[in-house]
Amino acid sequence: MIEEQALAESDLDEVVDLERTCFSDAWSREAFEDEVDRAAHGGYSRVARIGGELAGYLISWFIYDEAHLANLAVDPRWRRQGVGRTMLQDFLREARLRGCSVAHLEVRATNDGAIDLYRAHGFQPVSVRKNYYQREHEDALVMACFLRREEE
Ligand SMILES: CC(C)(COP(=O)(O)OP(=O)(O)OC[C@H]1O[C@@H](n2cnc3c(N)ncnc32)[C@H](O)[C@@H]1OP(=O)(O)O)[C@@H](O)C(=O)NCCC(=O)NCCS
Repeated sequence: MIEEQALAESDLDEVVDLERTCFSDAWSREAFEDEVDRAAHGGYSRVARIGGELAGYLISWFIYDEAHLANLAVDPRWRRQGVGRTMLQDFLREARLRGCSVAHLEVRATNDGAIDLYRAHGFQPVSVRKNYYQREHEDALVMACFLRREEE
């Protein structure tokens, strides 16, 4: 069973390890510390655990009526078991509850698995940021999902 909680200081060792496993341009520990502060003050960043073990995390930013999915990662041992889908769906639900009209994100243009996940949840490509990932000379696809407000 997947259990989600707000990102907390006590998650940071595992989250930073998983970030380094997943991304060549990994966020720093300091970047995650900022997200812990934000999560404690009305932000929305979550960890997912299965049997107590860190399975994934999602970092998001809410700016006026826009929701930005800043980071999403699932431990390789827990992939293709619905963790990413669950976290993404909960983020979109939160965005609707907060009255957001749109959610957006950037994804590597070659990251077919993530792009499939986002498309399945209503995200569409809206633009390309050329050479956004400079180390690998790779483009970012900007994807947006237009939201209808969910009645509480
Ligand atoms: C992308 C990522 C978050 C997906 O997490 P996940 O928990 O494995 O995803 P789910 O099991 O919830 O998959 C849901 C659906 O998304 C699609 N999907 C997910 N991973 C996929 C892959 N590697 N290839 C093809 N489709 C994929 C499938 O449609 C899948 O449904 P299915 O398993 O019933 O076919 C995970 O692979 C990951 O952490 N990758 C490395 C970090 C990363 O790329 N993050 C995104 C940055 S924008």
